[in-house]
Amino acid sequence: MSGINMSETPLRLAVLLSGNGSNLQALIDAIEGKQLLGVEIVLVVSNNPNAYGLQRALKHALPAIYLPWGQANVPQKTEMSENETRLTSLLRLFQVDFIVLAGWMRILSAPFLEQFPRRVINLHPALLPDDGTGSTYITKDGTEIPVFRGLHAVRQALDAGIKVTGSTIHYVTPEVDAGPVICREEVAVESEDTEESLHERVKVVEHRLIVEAVRKLNRRDAITEHLPYDKITEH
Ligand code: GRF
Repeated sequence: MSGINMSETPLRLAVLLSGNGSNLQALIDAIEGKQLLGVEIVLVVSNNPNAYGLQRALKHALPAIYLPWGQANVPQKTEMSENETRLTSLLRLFQVDFIVLAGWMRILSAPFLEQFPRRVINLHPALLPDDGTGSTYITKDGTEIPVFRGLHAVRQALDAGIKVTGSTIHYVTPEVDAGPVICREEVAVESEDTEESLHERVKVVEHRLIVEAVRKLNRRDAITEHLPYDKITEH
């Protein structure tokens, strides 16, 4: 991956997605609106040929690729899957500096992630603790809530009857939805909420947070190998 120098070379982002791509759109809008300087999206990858996110990318003349992702080809602990090897080739071809998982529904292996240390981030539609691990989270009002991970975090929050959930941007580690937090924000659960209405409000927050996270990470000092994760964690 190329070195990062905000003043001379824009940060080259790849966005990986599987569906709607509203968070990709938030990044596109921020870059086009000059609210995210020194950043460009150089590649959009989807494992789903029907992902609307691919259309969004093409509307803005961004390179957009459907990458078939064989289900049988699951990540191993010691080596990359064929899917990941092909993805790696693409990321290198497009000289990607940084990878945003924006609704990407496939697990990435440790060997894949080790190639891009501190350079893969994910959006999660629930609140995660600072270091990403653990099973409980303390909200601003002091309430302890369960940590919801995986595909149905919004539904789980609703089913649990909690009053506050939120969105978290975190570094990706081999454990799913368990990496160190970059930024996050709480969202109140309303009594009349459905999974859809709550997820929509969480997404409104996400669209702001993902731009904030990329802006923060584009500070050159935040991406040096020597800086521990917790030095750039702000809430
Ligand atoms: C977001 O809610 C994100 O937290 C989750 O997947 C959703 C993607 O939404 N990981 P979109 O495709 O960006 O609209």
